[in-house]
Amino acid sequence: MPVYDGTHSTPLHFLVMSNPSYYQHHVFFCVNQREGGRPCCFDKGAKNAQEHAKARIKQLDLSGAGKVRINQSGCLDRCEEGPVLVVYPEGVWYTYVDNADIDDIIDSHLVGGKPVERLKI
Ligand code: FES
Repeated sequence: MPVYDGTHSTPLHFLVMSNPSYYQHHVFFCVNQREGGRPCCFDKGAKNAQEHAKARIKQLDLSGAGKVRINQSGCLDRCEEGPVLVVYPEGVWYTYVDNADIDDIIDSHLVGGKPVERLKI
């Protein structure tokens, strides 16, 4: 474990900088399903989109430590803006309509490092 030497602005900054993310990009797709009332991402195709992303990342050989991880999550509490996903460590939130949008996020953001402005929420 590195020792804080006082040269960074805060111990928290030091901690973050000395512990890079396990994954370069960790992506969480909300796939929450609920009955009636408030909208949910599942009803807007989230499960299919998450499976598409997972398969495509695998196909591109981008899956694993130091690369990309595609996970599903429960409700992220942005239901009305859904379907939603979030990419960490950047904390960039997206919505999407179809697999073409997912491919744009993969190609531009996860591969190219450039967030897709038109899909950001
Ligand atoms: S159901 Fe997806 S954010 Fe709430």
